[in-house]
Amino acid sequence: MGKLRVAVIPGDGIGEEVTREAMKVLHAAAEKFGFDYEKIVYPFGAEHYLKTTETMPESVFSELRQMNAIFLGAIGDPRIETGMLEHAIIGGIRFKLDLYVNLRPVKLLHERLCPLKDKGPKDVDMVFVRENTEDAYTRIGGIFKQSTPDEVAIATMLYTRKGCERAIRYAFEVARKRNKQKKVTLIDKANAIRAQDIWTRTFADVAKEYPDIRTDHAYIDAACMWMIKNPEWFDVAVSPNIFGDIITDLGAMIQGGLGIAASGNLHPGQVSMFEPIHGSAPKYKGLNKANPIASIMAVSMLLDYVGQENAAAAIEKSVETAIVSGKIPSLNAGVLPTDEIGTMVAKSL
Ligand code: IPM
Ligand code: MG
Repeated sequence: MGKLRVAVIPGDGIGEEVTREAMKVLHAAAEKFGFDYEKIVYPFGAEHYLKTTETMPESVFSELRQMNAIFLGAIGDPRIETGMLEHAIIGGIRFKLDLYVNLRPVKLLHERLCPLKDKGPKDVDMVFVRENTEDAYTRIGGIFKQSTPDEVAIATMLYTRKGCERAIRYAFEVARKRNKQKKVTLIDKANAIRAQDIWTRTFADVAKEYPDIRTDHAYIDAACMWMIKNPEWFDVAVSPNIFGDIITDLGAMIQGGLGIAASGNLHPGQVSMFEPIHGSAPKYKGLNKANPIASIMAVSMLLDYVGQENAAAAIEKSVETAIVSGKIPSLNAGVLPTDEIGTMVAKSL
């Protein structure tokens, strides 16, 4: 491929620090694997908003469409109305670029990182496919008669056949490509939320196209339980947006914490966005304590997506080696300085 063009949005809180380390590793990978890249850094986030009242201007989306990938650090700041920047920037990118899959691998690299008794790397190795453009995230709804005794609040859970079908199909493709248990588990709450019957039926329809892949089902409440009790049951799981959001934080914990969990917001064949799943953690901002591994793993996912599979695998290997050898003893904030971890991974490439 030609020059890799990456848009970079460091964002808020620890976003800047973890992005800096992720970019260190991207740079090292480009040198080692001999590809050219260009970074286009955007200032969006709380500081930019407070200075300019601009969140994410429309014109940027046409620029983003010209890139190969987007890297995002973290968005969110306590000085600004809850969820406003997250909706404009993270939501804006997901919805306007139609990034319909949120791909979240959950892979334990070493037993000592796992809070579950008697579970090891062979038990915790799964991939979540979270639908990423619908559900309770559309902001259809609102608040009426606010702050009165008659206040009403409505949020709509919206599902389309197209939306669930493309996420489900992607999950089956991942199961086939992974070639592990060859199993896809549908996670929903169709027993209480009958609108989610659209997921049940679409899942059954798509499954017919994949006779080589087994299917399984769990309601979200039970799925949370099985994740703790028998994580080895999961291979690929697919779910509506909101449940995927929640269960992947649980997944992050059983693979060592938010310090390692990365994600890809994908529209296969088009510009896609990669980010750590953690937030902006304002209390750690500027302290050089945040663990940048999740961001580094997001760079690995980004490179895999744009066709630099060897570079992606090498980054993963470097992280794995640093963790298994104990050089990075845990993924908690402050275990080592942020910049030291980035340098360590970059050098070992
Ligand atoms: C995530 C985050 C976001 C989400 C927030 C910041 C809106 O939790 O990417 O998982 O809920 O999707
Ligand atoms: Mg989340």
